[in-house]
Amino acid sequence: MKMYFNTHTHLNSEQLYFNRDIFISHALNEEVDYLCVVGYDVESSKKAVQIAHEYPFIYCAVGISPNDCEETTDEDIQVIEELLQDPKAVALGEIGLDYHWDVPRDKQKDVFLKQIEIAKRYDKPIVIHARDAYEDTYNILRNAKHYGIMHCYSGSAQMAQRYIDVGFYISLAGTVTFKNAKTPKEVAKTVDINHLLIETDDPYLTPHPFRGKLNEPANVVYVAKEIAKIKNMAIEDVARITTFNAKKVFGIK
Ligand code: NI
Repeated sequence: MKMYFNTHTHLNSEQLYFNRDIFISHALNEEVDYLCVVGYDVESSKKAVQIAHEYPFIYCAVGISPNDCEETTDEDIQVIEELLQDPKAVALGEIGLDYHWDVPRDKQKDVFLKQIEIAKRYDKPIVIHARDAYEDTYNILRNAKHYGIMHCYSGSAQMAQRYIDVGFYISLAGTVTFKNAKTPKEVAKTVDINHLLIETDDPYLTPHPFRGKLNEPANVVYVAKEIAKIKNMAIEDVARITTFNAKKVFGIK
């Protein structure tokens, strides 16, 4: 028997929310027995908490992402702090830096730093979204002296090790299954399984062989299978160890 923990799903997104019961039953059919629904703004964070209360095996993260922070007020950040105190809220996220889009960097850093402080105050891990900003993100996290998850990690293997050294797990998504994904495969190969997590980041990033279709939480098994293949490990061990890691970082008994 396998037991997967999908650490990053957006069942709170427009594309999945209304049919979430169907997607959750698909996940359970694939032995994906734990899910963490992740927020990216105030509304999606509220929805994440709501979904986590509908099922005992669903947890949530609440936070404002760098792509959604341009209009963020201190009141919004206060709402995130209140949501974080929910017993099913096991992390603050997704938060971070994204230089791919043109949200002002000063604003991104401000919202990022304020949320890190909240996570530290409540001793909950942070789920990091970093795109085209790995060096700046690393410097902030090193100074923060906290812990958490590098979500949908797509940086180099060398950089991954530096994040691990400052308290972060490396979470791999469907990109690791893509035929031409040299860097994620290298990360899967070199990062110790004790520092790896698995996720889908649905509704996007659908794994091979379903690329182009809507992604859903059940597809996390394809991420696990690819890691098992690359590491030459039994799929049961990849499932067991990544689930153990997820429960550990989220503080789930
Ligand atoms: Ni996400």
